[in-house]
Amino acid sequence: MGTRTHDQEDLTARQPAHTAWHLAVAPMMDWTDRHCRYFHRLLAPHALLYTEMVTAQAVIHGDRERLIGFDAAEHPLALQLGGSEPRELAQAARIGAELGYGEINLNVGCPSDRVQSGRFGACLMREPALVAECVTAMREAVAPLHTAVTVKCRLGVDDQDEDVALAEFVDAVHAGGCDVFVVHARKAWLQGLSPKENRDVPPLNYERVYRLKREHPQLTVIINGGIVGIDETREHLRRVDGVMLGRVAYHEPYRLAEIEHDVFSTPLPDRDEVLLRLRPYVEAHLARGDRLQHISRHILGLYQGLPGARAFRRVLSEQAHRLDAGWEVVERARMARSSERYSGMA
Ligand SMILES: Cc1cc2nc3c(=O)[nH]c(=O)nc-3n(C[C@H](O)[C@H](O)[C@H](O)COP(=O)(O)O)c2cc1C
Repeated sequence: MGTRTHDQEDLTARQPAHTAWHLAVAPMMDWTDRHCRYFHRLLAPHALLYTEMVTAQAVIHGDRERLIGFDAAEHPLALQLGGSEPRELAQAARIGAELGYGEINLNVGCPSDRVQSGRFGACLMREPALVAECVTAMREAVAPLHTAVTVKCRLGVDDQDEDVALAEFVDAVHAGGCDVFVVHARKAWLQGLSPKENRDVPPLNYERVYRLKREHPQLTVIINGGIVGIDETREHLRRVDGVMLGRVAYHEPYRLAEIEHDVFSTPLPDRDEVLLRLRPYVEAHLARGDRLQHISRHILGLYQGLPGARAFRRVLSEQAHRLDAGWEVVERARMARSSERYSGMA
């Protein structure tokens, strides 16, 4: 890859300030759908939220409202795309930018078989030149809308040397016009591990991500993988530009509020109040024919760690799937939690 053109430099200047990436919630397939993101937004007003990965082809040919529709309250919001065909990715990126997504992120980290057979996700760590081409095409397509194009990657795959592989990848993709890298701080082992195992088994190497930032201070580097607490987040933010939380934000969503509070000094919301603020959203979606369960499944962990958390979860799990389930089920879950809490104290 050669040096960057003037046009590319101009595009860089229009990207949002790097502080936008201080705190993010990871793209998580089947989890971070629009309902989940709306709920997370109530807990963390400034965190950058990512969609689940959607393939470029699905964006182009699929039901857009269902796949990538969102509520304005979800901003700042990034659309994650999967693919490796530059023209398709460019077209999908343009569609996302026109819909109002502030960032289009390319997935170079997902290790599932389904993804590998389509030649995208983590296996693209082996094809930096192709990823650079994709990024260039996406940037050109969204430039008039001032939308950022970013990449989420791993340290490498399989037997790649994670020092060399990450350096070569980032150099090439940066030359293609990407200045923002979200790095899941472990390799993906494409042979022999399930996607789930690939989030836990290959060892984390935060130091490698810190070094990336030290060696490329002009890049925006966001670290991801295994980060669950306030102190760790602070430590990472001293070395890189941002922290991305995945599973902890889903399973223990109040942690997200606590970390947001620490990073941005946002007032810490009360959990019951978060529920009350969710109510109009839930009722509007129920009125449109959505099922309660599709929203309530994301809030099961709201009281995680507090007395009565199990009762809250149980009532929602047992009752929210009913066809006629309405807000009263959430209210019942909240009451069940209070009673269990008080009976526990007796
Ligand atoms: C259920 C689930 C689905 C995921 N789907 C995606 C995805 O669509 N795109 C992606 O880049 N990463 C995906 N990931 C990986 C996360 O974005 C993140 O990199 C990973 O969970 C490590 O962060 P954590 O340790 O904070 O959870 C997924 C993870 C989970 C648990």
